[in-house]
Amino acid sequence: MANVAVIGAQWGDEGKGKVVDWLASRADIVVRFQGGHNAGHTLVVNGETYKLSLLPSGLARGKLGVIGNGVVIDPEALLAEIGRVRGQGLTVTPETLRIAENAALILPLHGALDRARESARGARKIGTTGRGIGPAYEDKVARRAIRVCDLAEPDTLSAKLDELLLHHNTLLAGLGAETFTKEALLARLLELAPQILPFAEPVWERLNEARQAGRRILFEGAQAVMLDNDHGTYPFVTSSNTVSATAASGTGLGPQAVGFVLGIAKAYCTRVGSGPFPTELTDDTGTLLGDRGHEFGTVTGRRRRCGWFDATLVRQAVKVGGVQGLALTKLDVLDGLPEIKVGVGYRIGGELFRRLPAAPGAQAAAEPVYETLEGWAESTRGARSWADLPAAAVKYVRRIEELVEAPVTLLSTSPERDDTIMVRDPFAD
Ligand code: GDP
Ligand code: IMO
Ligand code: MG
Repeated sequence: MANVAVIGAQWGDEGKGKVVDWLASRADIVVRFQGGHNAGHTLVVNGETYKLSLLPSGLARGKLGVIGNGVVIDPEALLAEIGRVRGQGLTVTPETLRIAENAALILPLHGALDRARESARGARKIGTTGRGIGPAYEDKVARRAIRVCDLAEPDTLSAKLDELLLHHNTLLAGLGAETFTKEALLARLLELAPQILPFAEPVWERLNEARQAGRRILFEGAQAVMLDNDHGTYPFVTSSNTVSATAASGTGLGPQAVGFVLGIAKAYCTRVGSGPFPTELTDDTGTLLGDRGHEFGTVTGRRRRCGWFDATLVRQAVKVGGVQGLALTKLDVLDGLPEIKVGVGYRIGGELFRRLPAAPGAQAAAEPVYETLEGWAESTRGARSWADLPAAAVKYVRRIEELVEAPVTLLSTSPERDDTIMVRDPFAD
């Protein structure tokens, strides 16, 4: 039975939440495999808006949600989010949500270090969400992370906190930030333990069994390929791998289980935070896209930078992310533009490139080469079939397919769940 992995193909906020929610009706289990509460996934169901950061978007469909080992979990943020969505009528219990016992935790000292380092960077700041994501992944790789399973062993917790604090308090003090005491952290973790542990289990076992039983698994990526720690615009990236291969390592399934890889891309481009953005528009058209697309960070509230669709970057994301089909979202935001540009390459120091080089200097110097396409006057908002789309919009989609070397398998035309055109069922074998 086919599974599907959804990943972002630009710099995040492409509409992964909407697409995952829509696809979840065809799935049995929805699994997060990387990132943390830096993600902000928005679902609009019959006018009600849900903003999810850590919880898998399948919960809005009543599907089993799983948080895999590749996710970094802030227990305070998790419990707050569970409380929030319960208030909106969603059911979140240990029957509907399972959490990997071997996932690493985000503690308050991670957020403090994240923020202290960002302010020390000054103008060179990355523009992180300040939620401790980077420091938590650093601790995981450095083998000093506290994991979900440690909450069941007070002695382990106590010993690990000694090691963590030795490291973090030294850094925090050096940065002039407030330090932490072991007693307070330990007491709080022991208080949180009985609230978190009922959700914890070896999720790899459940997922492998589900796969064997022919259940359909939908993997929900966070962030996007251009924020991938290896393949993105480093150092202006997040601290996890966001490509589809992580769906396997971040859950405890083999790579064969990942299934069809669906890349999500906006019909234009946005970015939160700092870093190169060759097709960025700082003129009125950029403002128009931002206003019409409501481009404000779900997590940060910051205005997103906007620009033209960069086919060079999405093509690169298709290759390194293993994308087999594209879900193109927010086509409606382009309605009424007389002409639309698409980035098809870069000029860097007089040379033409069909990829973004890795070196920061070259990335900053990349001047986009554009192709200009005809716009359309008609509204595409809410369109639910190809027949509802103006000819110029269809032409735009077809040209994107050619340039990025991947077929468009889904089209989204509004924030609402059902305003979606399916070209090919990603779950079809
Ligand atoms: P994610 O992080 O990839 O899940 O994306 P976000 O939820 O952070 O941001 C996408 C925003 O676009 C959300 O506000 C969605 O409700 C909205 N959205 C998704 N698809 C469409 C679409 O096709 N048209 C419009 N106008 N808005 C959309
Ligand atoms: P979703 O899943 C957009 C960006 C931050 C910053 C960089 C590193 O909603 O698409 P971090 O806090 O992860 O260390 O910040 O990555 N970033 C996102 N941008 N959407 C996201 O998630 C993001 N998660 C992180 O703005 O530039
Ligand atoms: Mg988002």
